[in-house]
Amino acid sequence: MHGLGAGLLREHPVWGGRIFLIIGMVVGILLFWSLPRAEANSCVACHKTLADPSHVKHSFLEWEQSVHARNQVTCNFCHGGDPSKAEKKEAHAGVLNSNNPKSRVYYQTIPKTCGACHDQYQAFQQSRHYLMLQKTGKGPNCATCHGAMATKVLSLKEMQQTCTLCHSKPYQAYEALAIVRKTALSVALLKDALGAAKQAGSPVAAAEAELGQAQAELTQAKRAWHTFHMKEVFDKGIAAYEHAQATKNELDRVKAPRASP
Ligand code: HEC
Ligand code: HEC
Ligand code: HEC
Ligand code: HEC
Ligand code: HEC
Repeated sequence: MHGLGAGLLREHPVWGGRIFLIIGMVVGILLFWSLPRAEANSCVACHKTLADPSHVKHSFLEWEQSVHARNQVTCNFCHGGDPSKAEKKEAHAGVLNSNNPKSRVYYQTIPKTCGACHDQYQAFQQSRHYLMLQKTGKGPNCATCHGAMATKVLSLKEMQQTCTLCHSKPYQAYEALAIVRKTALSVALLKDALGAAKQAGSPVAAAEAELGQAQAELTQAKRAWHTFHMKEVFDKGIAAYEHAQATKNELDRVKAPRASP
């Protein structure tokens, strides 16, 4: 059996080399095209070319620069529709304006839509915010706090501004979130320090146990956040902070003999 490439290679070594180069390039291009890319999505392909009307709640650019775009969360995941259809009418099947109660981005339905991917929805459903959103329409939904495009997690200051849209006093939210963030930072640093101490041969079992506790409580505090039961967030946050502190003390203790000869 003589493949074209093999035959050419034997008779014309230079051509043969090129054939393989060309085959390689073709395979490469095919692989590249088969990668999941936003452009293969008709919503993105068409909306990219449209001027953003000024009234829209988020622009194409906001989507394009968002964490969602970077993670291939295209328009259809939040708005519905059929991204495999190039025609607007077919692609738009099921896409409804956000002021239509049947829309996936109707203000009371937004949590459910986001909840397809984010387990914050479970916690949020236990909150008074969710209850008020469903009962009176006066509670915030995910987009109230994260923006329609949910481009980012709010800083402490931005958060306070968001809360004061509806609250005169933000219910110790600032303190609760500050302790959670501060603890998250020290847990990350302690993880590194513990790794280094372990490598240096220090006995770190006790410190490891403390850090494990801190991490577990921090996860609970973060999970509790979207219930907006601030006391629970605060209590778990403080508990995590104390275990982080104990980790640090324990690491200092086992490292002490090396530090002071
Ligand atoms: C061939 C072009 C084209 C395609 C494909 C397309 N759209 Fe659109 N879309 C438009 C145009 C034009 C508008 C402007 C408003 C109108 O004419 O409906 C629009 C409007 C919208 C709106 C606003 C609707 C409103 O009532 O305000 C949403 C949301 C939307 N598109 C989402 C999508 C999604 C999701 C997809 C893919 C499943 C998609 N579009 C595919 C052209 C397109
Ligand atoms: C992470 C979810 C999410 C993604 C992804 C997303 N959107 Fe939206 N979009 C929303 C939400 C939520 C609203 C309504 C905002 C509000 O009520 O504040 C909205 C509103 C809109 C509107 C205004 C019309 C309306 O119904 O209010 C248009 C137009 C629109 N989106 C187009 C797009 C297009 C085009 C893409 C993709 C390039 C896209 N969206 C991707 C969540 C998303
Ligand atoms: C199809 C799945 C999907 C949907 C629907 C979706 N997201 Fe996301 N979201 C993601 C992914 C994937 C990421 C990036 C990975 C991560 O950080 O979890 C992300 C990231 C985020 C982040 C940033 C998290 C961080 O740590 O930086 C926020 C906030 C967010 N989404 C909120 C929302 C909101 C609000 C909605 C509804 C309007 C929504 N998402 C809808 C999949 C989704
Ligand atoms: C009342 C305001 C508010 C509402 C409503 C809200 N969030 Fe958040 N969300 C926040 C704040 C503030 C943070 C930052 C918390 C932190 O740093 O741990 C956050 C964090 C997040 C994160 C990042 C978590 C992480 O560990 O980095 C995601 C994802 C998220 N929210 C999704 C949602 C979704 C989905 C909904 C709706 C079901 C929602 N949020 C509703 C205020 C809100
Ligand atoms: C769109 C309006 C709105 C926004 C924005 C908002 N809230 Fe609320 N919040 C409410 C409503 C309505 C209630 C219910 C008040 C009641 O019990 O009558 C509530 C209740 C609460 C409660 C009490 C919960 C409970 O279980 O009793 C806390 C805590 C709270 N909000 C924190 C926050 C924080 C923190 C933010 C900002 C990250 C925020 N809220 C943003 C409307 C809002």
